[in-house]
Formats: sequence, structure tokens, C-alpha cells
Amino acid sequence: MDPVAVIARKRDGHELTDAEIRWAVAAYTSGAFADVQMAALLMAIVLRGMSAAETASLESAMRASGTTADLTGLRRGGARLPTADKHSTGGVGDKITLPLAPLVAACGAAVPQLSGRALGHTGGTLDKLESIPGWRADVPMRAFRRQLEDVGAVVCAAGADLAPADRAMYALRDITGTVESIPLIAASIMSKKLAEGSEALVLDVKVGSGAFMTDAGSARELARTMVRLGTDAGVRTTALLTAMDTPLGRTVGNALEVAEAVEVLAGGGPPDVVELTVALAREMLATAGLDSADPAARLADGAAMDRWRRMISAQGGDPDAPLPAARHVDTVRAEPGAAGVVTRLDARAVGEAARILGAGRRGPGDRVQAGAGIEIHARPGERVAAGGRLLSLHTDAPERFAAAREALAGAIDIGPRGPAGVDAGAGGAG
Ligand code: URA
Repeated sequence: MDPVAVIARKRDGHELTDAEIRWAVAAYTSGAFADVQMAALLMAIVLRGMSAAETASLESAMRASGTTADLTGLRRGGARLPTADKHSTGGVGDKITLPLAPLVAACGAAVPQLSGRALGHTGGTLDKLESIPGWRADVPMRAFRRQLEDVGAVVCAAGADLAPADRAMYALRDITGTVESIPLIAASIMSKKLAEGSEALVLDVKVGSGAFMTDAGSARELARTMVRLGTDAGVRTTALLTAMDTPLGRTVGNALEVAEAVEVLAGGGPPDVVELTVALAREMLATAGLDSADPAARLADGAAMDRWRRMISAQGGDPDAPLPAARHVDTVRAEPGAAGVVTRLDARAVGEAARILGAGRRGPGDRVQAGAGIEIHARPGERVAAGGRLLSLHTDAPERFAAAREALAGAIDIGPRGPAGVDAGAGGAG
């Protein structure tokens, strides 16, 4: 096939055939279709879009570029173990996988969760878990199956042979302005998720300032596209659209988020984190055919905490070890005359500031700091006193405070009334 002809057909708005798409992905993976040619094709896709049939061909070609996990025949105590996975499209303070995987395992499903690292202003589940002393992200396939049968949950890194075409294409998209495309995002996410071999998949599609999809229309279209790809591949797939205008919970950053997840597993934690964890658990269990399970009860009776401890220990981690803390903390306060109610806390700005502090990466090869991140003292709807604490910035590199504060400029609004009509009165965070 002629690479230039394939690129030109997409450039001119034609629908590519299944054979053309499969050839381009296979040729790119083997090195016969150059980076510059793939970059041109990706840009043509961003500008011209893809039909449902083209998107399905792309996802399936990317998945076929590597191996697919076989999770059939998982058993515990002689009974078949249903599998259920979830994927979030990425947010700020989104630590939900941490309490969710052990919670769903405690309710009787097996959760095979291959996770990623921080991307741009959004956090990465593996970076968070690696803040637990001893915890390892790499789990060989045989141990993966064993842990699923024994513990019921594995959160680990995808092997290099899982959808390698996506890894190469994603790196190219990252440096060519071709990330923001619904067919490309859907095919990228689903090629990895469908290669994992789970029977049921729940997608948490984020919408808002801190998400890749900032408007509800695009988020809905992304959700529909991914649900169609999953369903057509024979995986029971559903999606929830959830808000990402404000960070989830009260912490953003690796060890800070692990500590908050442990609070949730201990029966406490911020209400928004608990609510989303339980909602996603219900959806995963229903999709896996376990409708009668009660995730709220398993959080309350300690069963989810027990699974968490076993899940962390199985991957070399010490669930009782103290978590690393940053060496320096700087407090962002309300202006001396600005008592009131927080009306807005911009998720993207908080995510960007946390990345600058060291919770994410500033460039290829950068290392994350386990203790870096942001603690939120006043969320939207909560009162703050004049000069009261809004945020604590944590880092081992205090020279980054100024840039983090700059990223936060204009990110917090304080008014006389909160979003739900909470009056600014006496008191508040001090
Ligand atoms: N996450 C992915 O895995 N791929 C995308 O394209 C965007 C977010």
C-alpha cells in the first residue's frame, strides 16, 4: 500500500477502509510507516474525524499490535470468578482506583486493573501506589492471575507487549498536538482496556476544566464511542459522566492521595470520594452480574480495607509503613479582607500546580516526588475566614513554590455565597 495515498485520502475527507487502517498501524509498528507519516495521518484524523467503522478498525488494529490477556477460567473456592474493570479518562485528585479495586474485590468480583502514570496535569495511579514503601508496579502474568484468584484485585503496569502501537502513537500525539480527538482517544483507551481481558468494563468519563473533555457534549460523545467499541468487542461496557471542575477530595499528589484513599477504606474520607467510589463499585458489580452485592456495607465492615492490605502486600508493599512526606510546606491563604465562601476551585490549575511541585513530570525522564502535592483546606461551598488557609503546597524543592503559586493565580474565587447558596458567616477555615 502507498503510505502517501492513505494519508492523502484522509486529508481529503474520505473514509479509510479497514484494510488501509490495519496496514497503517501494522506498518507503523514494524517501522515501515515513518513517524512523520503517522504524524501527518494523525493530524488528518484530528481535522477530518473518523466514522464509527474507522474508529473500530483503528482500535482493533492497535489492540492486535500486541498480546491480549486471557482471564478465562479464574476460580475461587471452586466457583467461577467474574471480572470487572474500570477506567477513568483522567482527572485531578482522582484516587478512586485505590479504594475501588479492593472494594469491588471484597464484593466478589476480580479486578484486573492495568493503570498508567501521570499525564500532563492529571495524576497517575502507579505513581500514587509507588509512594508506598516496597510496592512494585510490575506483575508477571502468572502472578497476575494468582493474585486475582487469591486477593481479587491487581493494580499494576501494562506490559510492553500490550497494545504497543498505542504506546508509540500516543508519544507521537503528545508532541504533535494530536491528543484532542475523540476517535483517537477512544481507540487509544479501548485498545488497552480490551487487551486486558476483563468481561465487564465501567468507564468514568470526566468532564470539566480538569478533564481532557471540557464540555458535556464532547464527553458524552467520547463515552458513547468507547461503550460502542467495548460492546462490539463482546465486553459488557457502561459509562458514567462525572464532574471534574473541582479536584476530587482534599488531596492532590501521590502519597497525599494514598493517605486519603486509606481514610476512605477506614470508613471516613471526603464525601465526594466516598460517593464516587461506591457509585462506580455498584456499576462495576452490576455490569459483572453481581447486583446483590452491597459496596457501602463492605466499606463500613472493614472487608475492603482487608483486601487493600492484602493487595498492597502481594505486590511487595508495606501497608503499615509511614508514607513519605515532603520536606517543605507553603500555605496559600485568603486575602486579609476576603472572608466568604469558596465558589470555585479550578481543577486544572490545581493539577498543574501539583505537577510543578513534583507530583507529576515536567518532561521526559523527570521523576515524581512521592510527598509532593496539594492539600485543600476549603472546597467550593465551604467558608473561609479573612486570611484563612486555602491550600497547603508540599514539595522537596522549595524553589518551585513561586511557579506553583503562579499556576494557581485566578484559580480560587471567594464570594458572599457558595455554589449551593451557603452563606458566608462567622468562622471558617483558619
Ligand atoms: N488516555 C489514553 O490512554 N489515551 C488517550 O488518548 C487519552 C488519555
